[in-house]
Amino acid sequence: MNLYRDLLQPLLFSGLRADPETLKVALLRTLEWLDVTQATGILSLLERLFCYRDPCLEVRLWGLSFPNPLGLAAGLDKDGVALGVWPHLGFGFVEVGTVTPQPQPGNPKPRLFRLPQDRAALNCMGFNNQGAAALAERLRRLRQRLIPIGVNLGKGKTTPLEAAATDYLASFRVLRELGDYFVINVSSPNTPGLRSLQAAKHLEPILAALQEENQAKKPLLVKIAPDLDWPEIDAILELAQAYGLAGIIATNTTLRRDNLKTRFLPGLGPLTTAAGGISGAPLRERSTQIIRYIHQATGGQLPIIGVGGIFTLDDALEKLAAGASLLQVYTGWIYEGPSLVPRLLRGLAASRQGACSIPSGRKIVG
Ligand code: FNR
Repeated sequence: MNLYRDLLQPLLFSGLRADPETLKVALLRTLEWLDVTQATGILSLLERLFCYRDPCLEVRLWGLSFPNPLGLAAGLDKDGVALGVWPHLGFGFVEVGTVTPQPQPGNPKPRLFRLPQDRAALNCMGFNNQGAAALAERLRRLRQRLIPIGVNLGKGKTTPLEAAATDYLASFRVLRELGDYFVINVSSPNTPGLRSLQAAKHLEPILAALQEENQAKKPLLVKIAPDLDWPEIDAILELAQAYGLAGIIATNTTLRRDNLKTRFLPGLGPLTTAAGGISGAPLRERSTQIIRYIHQATGGQLPIIGVGGIFTLDDALEKLAAGASLLQVYTGWIYEGPSLVPRLLRGLAASRQGACSIPSGRKIVG
């Protein structure tokens, strides 16, 4: 019996019909309180319940040490309010953001919807965030860095597309010493025109500007949309090589609405005409296809963070087999609850039995 998945989640999602964004804000406030108070009893309880450590799971990449390959995807903790808590929930790394140079409110509410029949979500948040300076301050105040922290950068809503590089650069300058890796997010569907920055002619000046300022050679990645076609991905891979990118994050949410059981959302209308990106199970296969394509096209030379629709061990194994070095979850964690992390990690360690230099399953917590 999984307390969250079998009791709490149905109560919150269906019984009380709690608004998804209200729940998300309540979750973040609770985690922020935990972070500020460092309530040691609760943190060590979380650790006992949700952390699974095994040397077999460690990943070394870009000179960084990841205790395990499972990270929290961008968008949940945009402002880094719970940075001190994510390691106690078992994650091997966390990505904060998307952050823009100035604070912005995002799109009008409601802007986050559950699609339980599809094990999915639709969001049109629009980079609501407190801005790069506020995030920098939180990163500076962080007491202990237990896991690598990625910083995901975006363009402000009112910045013209031609000036996009200025925005990415402004946030990067404020944050470059404070993140372990950086992500150029050009794949959110909720900032008008942002996805057009994936085209080589628009992406190139952004990469050039950031790498010129990147004296410390921090790993720089691009996060791409699942709706690109192969030639578009090829063009991004060429730029990745030309500008020494550290990797690709595949993928962001999708604009596609096929294969969905949900046709209509209360308060929003027909899904086919609703703005926003779909995350969760419907994204799984396409994001894995893209990971496989990039892995093959680059001969496995370009690290990939695989994200999109991971709910089960098989989902995680499929993305690793396709060529991902690291994985991220968002929607699956919301549906399955925090026990998803140790469940996946225990399964991954078991699948590596015999393949590890150090026998797995010895140092188990939780
Ligand atoms: C996201 N995602 C996201 N990605 C990003 O790069 N910057 C962001 O600000 C956000 N914001 C965001 C909000 C919400 C509510 C959701 C559900 C998702 C995309 C996310 O990081 C991930 O790429 C996709 O959700 C696919 O993974 P899952 O959710 O299927 O595990």
